[in-house]
Amino acid sequence: MNLSIRHANIYDKNIICALGVTTFYEAYFEQDDSHDLANYVTESFSAARIEAELKDANSTFFVAELDGKAAGYAKLRENSEAECLSNENAVELQRIYVLERAKGRGIGARLLNRCAETARAKGYETIWLGVWEKNAAAIRFYEKSGFVKVGEVQFPYGKSVGTNHVMKINL
Ligand SMILES: CC(C)(COP(=O)(O)OP(=O)(O)OC[C@H]1O[C@@H](n2cnc3c(N)ncnc32)[C@H](O)[C@@H]1OP(=O)(O)O)[C@@H](O)C(=O)NCCC(=O)NCCS
Repeated sequence: MNLSIRHANIYDKNIICALGVTTFYEAYFEQDDSHDLANYVTESFSAARIEAELKDANSTFFVAELDGKAAGYAKLRENSEAECLSNENAVELQRIYVLERAKGRGIGARLLNRCAETARAKGYETIWLGVWEKNAAAIRFYEKSGFVKVGEVQFPYGKSVGTNHVMKINL
C-alpha cells in the first residue's frame, strides 16, 4: 500500500467535491435526517463553493492518495474563531475525512501530521477543531492523537441545534 499526502490545488476542485459529499454523507447518514444531510452536502461541497475555498488564502486543503487514488482529505482554516480559545495562536482543522473503505489504514493520522507540520511552518502553536458530540469515533481518534476537550459550542443544523466539542492540541 502506497500512501501519500499532497497539497490540493484548483485542479483538485472536483476531487474535493466528490470526497466532501461522499465522506460527509457516509459519516452521518445513520444519525441525520436524509434531507438535512443532502441539503448540507449539496450546498457545502458545490463546485462553486469549493473553488472559492481553494482560492481563499485562509484555506489549505490536503488530499490523501492510496495507491494513487484519492481516499481522503483535510482542510485547515486560518482566522476562524473558536469561542473557547480567544487568546491563542491557533488554526482550525475544519475538515478531516476518509472514505469508509479506506479507514483504519493510517490515512487520518498522516493527514493530521501534514496539517500539524503546515500549521507549525505557518507559525501557529495550536490546532483546534469542533467535533459533533455524537461523533464518538472521531472523538476517540482525536483523543488518541493528543487532542483534549476545551469547551463546547452550539451550531444550527437543519431544524435543530447541535453541540460540538471544541478540542485542541499544542504543536
Ligand atoms: C476520524 C478519521 C479521519 C480517522 O481516520 P483513519 O484513517 O480511519 O484513522 P487512522 O487509521 O489514521 O488511525 C489513527 C489512530 O487513531 C485510531 N483510531 C481511528 N479511528 C478510531 C476509532 N473509531 N476508535 C478508536 N481509535 C481510532 C487508530 O486506531 C490509530 O491508532 P494507532 O496509531 O494507535 O494505531 C476517519 O475515521 C473518518 O474519516 N471518520 C469519518 C469522518 C469524521 O468523523 N471526521 C471527523 C469530523 S470532526
